[in-house]
Amino acid sequence: MSLPPGFLDELRNRVPISRVIGRKVVWDQRKSNQARGDWWAPCPFHQEKSASFHCDDQKGFYYCFGCQAKGDALTFLREMDGLEFIEAVKVLAAEAGMQMPEPDPRSRERSDRRSRLIEVTEAACRWFRLQLQTGAAADARDYLLRRGLDRDAEDRFEIGFAPNSRTALFTALREKGFDEALIIEAGVAARPDGGGTPYDRMRDRIIFPIRDGQGRCIGFGGRAMDPNARAKYLNSPETPLFDKGRNLYHIGPARAAVAKGQRLIVAEGYMDVIALARAGFEGAVAPLGTAITEDQLRLMWRVSPEPIIALDGDAAGQRAARRLIDLALPLTGPGQALRFVMLPTGQDPDDLIKSAGPGAMGALLDQARPLVDLLWERETEGQVFDSPERRAALDRRLQEAIGRIPDELTRRHYTDTIRDKRREVMGGWKPRAKGRGNVQAGPWPARRGGASMAPSAPRPPIPMNGPQSTADLLEGASLLICALRPECVAQIESRLERLLPRDADRAALLHDLLTGGDTDAGRRALETLRTDAHLGLTPKLIESQDLESAQAILTNLIDRLDAERAAGAELVRAEAEIQGEADEGLTWRIQQITRARHRAERPEMEERGDLNEDRDALSAQLDQFLSGQIWRKPTR
Ligand code: UTP
Ligand code: MN
Repeated sequence: MSLPPGFLDELRNRVPISRVIGRKVVWDQRKSNQARGDWWAPCPFHQEKSASFHCDDQKGFYYCFGCQAKGDALTFLREMDGLEFIEAVKVLAAEAGMQMPEPDPRSRERSDRRSRLIEVTEAACRWFRLQLQTGAAADARDYLLRRGLDRDAEDRFEIGFAPNSRTALFTALREKGFDEALIIEAGVAARPDGGGTPYDRMRDRIIFPIRDGQGRCIGFGGRAMDPNARAKYLNSPETPLFDKGRNLYHIGPARAAVAKGQRLIVAEGYMDVIALARAGFEGAVAPLGTAITEDQLRLMWRVSPEPIIALDGDAAGQRAARRLIDLALPLTGPGQALRFVMLPTGQDPDDLIKSAGPGAMGALLDQARPLVDLLWERETEGQVFDSPERRAALDRRLQEAIGRIPDELTRRHYTDTIRDKRREVMGGWKPRAKGRGNVQAGPWPARRGGASMAPSAPRPPIPMNGPQSTADLLEGASLLICALRPECVAQIESRLERLLPRDADRAALLHDLLTGGDTDAGRRALETLRTDAHLGLTPKLIESQDLESAQAILTNLIDRLDAERAAGAELVRAEAEIQGEADEGLTWRIQQITRARHRAERPEMEERGDLNEDRDALSAQLDQFLSGQIWRKPTR
């Protein structure tokens, strides 16, 4: 349905966004300014205790400084309540007392066209099913029986057969009165490049109809019986009905099964889904011949908070798992998790159920492992961590991966879990008792899967920064202080110019600070810093200082930032060394940064005389704050 111009604006103007959002959040009364239509609350899209979710009645927009969720009232209704766009418009129109316009002819035409395409696919589906009962399908029926699919299974999964004919389906559909263009658009026949009669896409194949969540037939998967066929599986092409990246095979029945308490299982193939469902695991789905997409993950999560990915126990399955980790990390959080089961080498769920029975499959599913396990495995497998540099490089990779998780709490738990694993596997690498002269390495290489034999003396947790790296935090603190105490900026200008902030917003803020400008991006960065829980005490600490102390603190922070970055650069070198890429230029640069690092580590030695006690105490406080904050376990 398309809406008349101005309708949406009118709608947005009539209903204050805070009224729509207010039903789902508890406003932070102290932070909000009702009179100005300026509202703050803990974000409804991610878990948090502080109020970093903001909405503005004047602008009609919301934005979360924590998870970057943003949009207008309609977006909110769609994201929060899972409404389709037009449904959200209806809800808001009812609230505003506005009459919904009549559906416009063009959109009616579009939906009419879709229903006509579905008539074609449904007719094709029936036709394929009929063909399976003909004499020409004797081999196909044999094949199915050999694969353990009886008449019952054929009915349940609507299995059909495409005979080895160029135009049988096309002709049958034409005889039913469907016009040529429609048949082609539905994806069941194709026009030859040189023109002429369209040919059937599926020939001499077992047919698996694919239905969307509403049970409408949107496409087909066809399996060749001939092992030498050009492609084992052929799927319908993308059509207005068939969007491979946004649908899953068997999603309708799976959703119903999950609602009754079954697990959502994601297998690789049609035959796996069928085998799983017949073995009693009815919440089984599969992608449609392509790698799992982000849209498919979201679709899964609308059905279950923790789908189990069952991957074939071969190299391709492993690769798929690895890819999926990267796809899922930036999306994962409470209610959006994944588990994985790896099938025994060379088997898929279909094979396993046949060879070992549903019980074996169930046992495997019970042992499904969380995403974090696979992440750890991916980063450590087959490697030896026999030097601090290599261990540091590992930490860096894991940090980077965890840093991509948007939800703070989830990030923290990932960090905890990884830290435990690290301790378990790499136990005992710390130098033995102090004062014995020699620094002694522990038992390496890493022992996968087993506990270390090293003496497990208690040692401090390994700093694996989850939420923000220490450098990010130091940079944030420096920028925040500059913003709070602009009079400090002049003295330290040249160093600020070399700061290279981690993102565009922070860069804008820095530019604003240096030039006295005032950009949206800069304001956004400042707002994020102000609401950053890790920096929560900084304003209080800094505002009470005299200029000199504030400047000293700022200098110290920037020294430490340089030092931190030097440590990062050393990691880069370590990694480069491992890969044999270290060169002299790199070594020189590292030296420069390492010098900065030493400067930063010993500022007291050069300056202690000038620092008054007050400043010392403050510095210590900041220190403790910055180092403790990142690592503190969630307080309950
Ligand atoms: P598999 O090769 O694992 O097939 O491909 P399968 O499901 O185990 O099938 P059987 O048991 O040999 O009959 C998994 C999925 O990848 C897609 C299909 O969706 C298939 O179900 N695929 C595979 C294709 O799209 N084309 C191909 O040529 C092969
Ligand atoms: Mn198979």
